Amino acid sequence: MKKIEAIIQPFKLYEVMDALNEIGIHGMTVTEVKGFGRQKGHIEVYRGSEFEVRLIPKVKIETVVPASLLEKVIATISEKAKTGKIGDGKIFVSSLEDVMRIRTGEKGELAI
Ligand SMILES: Nc1ncnc2c1ncn2[C@@H]1O[C@H](COP(=O)(O)OP(=O)(O)OP(=O)(O)O)[C@@H](O)[C@H]1O
Ligand SMILES: [Mg+2]
Repeated sequence: MKKIEAIIQPFKLYEVMDALNEIGIHGMTVTEVKGFGRQKGHIEVYRGSEFEVRLIPKVKIETVVPASLLEKVIATISEKAKTGKIGDGKIFVSSLEDVMRIRTGEKGELAI
């Protein structure tokens, strides 16, 4: 299993969520976050206005998927989240050891 953490622009959230739903992603966690990348201290556009801040609002999508779906998920997120401008975000991938679905006690891929 793989855990994908995608940091994206907030206005892209629903487009990305809809596309992930279409490829059969069954669960995700979405969090409002703030962060910075390489342009720290430089101007980035947020909600149509340019401003200089050290922490820019972003959205983090976390989803755990079978390893076989990984490439499809990355392609979907990157295609939908991309504007081509700075601040489009990043996708972090890690291996996940185990999952338990609390109600049923199922573990591993059955629990996703
Ligand atoms: N190395 C990192 N570790 C953890 N979070 C990061 C890292 N780089 C970026 N982020 C997160 O992703 C968000 C978006 O990053 P961003 O897209 O600006 O990266 P970048 O490397 O500056 O690329 P770009 O040049 O396209 O802007 C940041 O606000 C931060 O929340
Ligand atoms: Mg940046």
